[in-house]
Amino acid sequence: MLRLTRLHDSDLAQLEVALDAANLPYDDVREAGRLFYSSGEGELAFVGMEIFGADALLRSLVVPSAARGKGLGKSIVEALAVEAKKIGIERLWLLTTTAADFFAAIGFEPAARPEAPRKIQTTREFRDLCPASAAFMKLDLTRAHQ
Ligand SMILES: CC(C)(COP(=O)(O)OP(=O)(O)OC[C@H]1O[C@@H](n2cnc3c(N)ncnc32)[C@H](O)[C@@H]1OP(=O)(O)O)[C@@H](O)C(=O)NCCC(=O)NCCS
Repeated sequence: MLRLTRLHDSDLAQLEVALDAANLPYDDVREAGRLFYSSGEGELAFVGMEIFGADALLRSLVVPSAARGKGLGKSIVEALAVEAKKIGIERLWLLTTTAADFFAAIGFEPAARPEAPRKIQTTREFRDLCPASAAFMKLDLTRAHQ
């Protein structure tokens, strides 16, 4: 299992650069309530979550383009799910316009937007991503075999 490295404030610049390179939003990564991690060694992948009690929005998943297709994305998401469960999170939610099949292969299931807790529905990502083009997905960590 990949070992996640927790990013602290002084590490966030590298995350911002990686997110910018992948055209993912990065201007709010320093706001409260977010935890970010890297894959720790070699070519760094990143992933994060915005936490609302027992629910969290998975966000900011990026694998450097030269390192894609080798299982790193799957490994870092699986490691994040283990870490989330360890800190008491019961459900991971996400929106994606590009990688629904990738997340489905990891165990995420399609979810209806009204099913999301209100706090998740008010995240900026949730408000900004167009419902027609973004898949909304959920991983129930109380059921998942982690
Ligand atoms: C999406 C992303 C994280 C995948 O990372 P990766 O390291 O290339 O993925 P993996 O090698 O772990 O792939 C695992 C499986 O998912 C498949 N897969 C990878 N990217 C996929 C995608 N975008 N859509 C569907 N399937 C995908 C792979 O083919 C592989 O399948 P296999 O196990 O049958 O061989 C990476 O392409 C990326 O950083 N993209 C840009 C940022 C982005 O879109 N982030 C997600 C925003 S929600």
